[in-house]
Amino acid sequence: MAETVVLCAADQVVEGEIKQAPLPDGTNVALYRIAGMIYATADMCTHGEASLAEEGIISGKIVECTFHFGTFDVTTGEPTGMPCEIPLKTYPVTVVDGQVQIEV
Ligand code: FES
Repeated sequence: MAETVVLCAADQVVEGEIKQAPLPDGTNVALYRIAGMIYATADMCTHGEASLAEEGIISGKIVECTFHFGTFDVTTGEPTGMPCEIPLKTYPVTVVDGQVQIEV
């Protein structure tokens, strides 16, 4: 069953930056603001042990992992550039009372 997790205040998710937030299972999510909308993906690159919040660069809806320059579309999780081939997990985001929530 889906569990709702409150991550942070919505105004902490800033256009052009990547906000890392912890999940109850000990992993992290990466939050992005694109054209006013907030998107959430797994923080760990699917190609290696790189945190996208720490090592990634967001440009439009594409995040680049600077370890090997692989890219993903953060709105879908789909890989858009080699060497990344496995999609990133994405999470539905809602903002309630100014707080970012996801279903995990
Ligand atoms: Fe991210 Fe290799 S670890 S592209």
